[in-house]
Amino acid sequence: MVRKRTSIHGEWSSRWAFILAATGSAVGLGNIWKFPYIAGENGGGAFVLVYLLCIAVIGVPIMMAEIMIGRRGRQSPVNTMYNLGIEAGSTPHWKWLGWLGVAAGFLILSYYSVIAGWALNYVLETASGTFTGLKAEAVSSIFGSFVSNPNALLFWHTLFMGMTMFIVARGVSNGLEKAVRFLMPSLFILLLIMVGYALNTGEFVRGLSFLFEPNFETLLYKHEAGGQIVLNTYGEKIFTLEYVLIAMGHAFFTLSLGMGAIMIYGSYLPKKVSIAKTTFMIAGADTLVALLAGMAIFPIVFANQLDPGAGPGLIFKTLPLAFGNMPFGTLFGTLFFILLVFAAWSSSISLIEPAVAWLVENKGMKRLKASAIMGVSCWLAGLLTVFSFNAWEKFYPLNFWIFKNKTFFDVLDYITANIMLPLGGLAIAIFSVWIMTRESSADELEMRQTDKSYNVWYFMTRYVTPLAVVYIFWNVI
Ligand code: TRP
Repeated sequence: MVRKRTSIHGEWSSRWAFILAATGSAVGLGNIWKFPYIAGENGGGAFVLVYLLCIAVIGVPIMMAEIMIGRRGRQSPVNTMYNLGIEAGSTPHWKWLGWLGVAAGFLILSYYSVIAGWALNYVLETASGTFTGLKAEAVSSIFGSFVSNPNALLFWHTLFMGMTMFIVARGVSNGLEKAVRFLMPSLFILLLIMVGYALNTGEFVRGLSFLFEPNFETLLYKHEAGGQIVLNTYGEKIFTLEYVLIAMGHAFFTLSLGMGAIMIYGSYLPKKVSIAKTTFMIAGADTLVALLAGMAIFPIVFANQLDPGAGPGLIFKTLPLAFGNMPFGTLFGTLFFILLVFAAWSSSISLIEPAVAWLVENKGMKRLKASAIMGVSCWLAGLLTVFSFNAWEKFYPLNFWIFKNKTFFDVLDYITANIMLPLGGLAIAIFSVWIMTRESSADELEMRQTDKSYNVWYFMTRYVTPLAVVYIFWNVI
């Protein structure tokens, strides 16, 4: 039977190796860089609440589905979807879902690498004591002049893309396990230290209430970055579910869902591992890291009269301020940015792995060659993001509809996180319960069809998750 499939790319050495690698993929810039800044732009509490709901209602069922499909297919997402489509008596065209994921991963990595480059630069800056004793304004202007220099961004983007491709070329199950095993707990401890610092800023409670006290005004009505409600020409508030879409998109982004990253990691997963338990661990760890990052950052924002809606520069304007003014700040700061780079590193490889695995499987390429091709093309695409923060700062390539006033970077981020990933996730959910048989999904999830847990998953994935995604899409797009 088909259960005998194994992956030609290797297998994780244990359940823990998979959990670590998948957590490594999930925990990254999304948690520490993106979550705080989009929560800040969208008014905090209510947005965070919707994000948490999306993790539970949409993220967890889809993650289980994705791992399950991956382990069943044991190939790159394109070939897995092709084969499982045929196996289920449906069509091989399901492979297009794999392609959607390859495209999304490629586009995300192109900008992800640029931002990870910022973190690399901040390792150097913090280590050399640049921020020692500085005030908020000086720290912000250092960030401003850094991103306005395309050469600097280009240099770090190149370095980070090189680092990513180095690992991908060697095969992700080689070495990654060991690195993540030690890095994830260290990052966690440093975040706790940062929260400890935030406790003493005098604005900890305000930071917490910003993050956790829901204010549905800013969630449901059109507003500026930071939260001021925008009125139409009649002086009325403008209702929109766009911010709900952003919260949902981020749930996909932060869990690495909807593009086959978790699917391909699942394809290296040994049999007999409980997919449900591992999913809860991964989603739990990921959420915890994001919330800790928020709890560290917002008290610093309020204690220094910074703007929570500062956008993508938020963590680079706040955390160095703390490092510059706390005991052992240079040490902690350097360590922190090093760990952030590693977190981004272990995420970036999963973005391009589906594409590389496909080149190896279908084009018979060596991993080295496949990685080089993908690396160079993705590096080129990254130039769009590099220039979005300087030369093309005011250039809005698709200046209409939901893309109004968005730079290349903004457009890439919006299309991938808020459209491609939810679309991919929706298709994955539909495939796993409407196309695959109950026998195969239950078998692969290591559950019985009569188990309560199986039926909860089945019900969620069959009705609740797809309807939620479609409803939100429908209202915005
Ligand atoms: N989840 C990662 C983060 O939060 C980014 C990431 C890695 C990702 N692989 C992915 C996002 C696949 C979407 C899809 O930083």
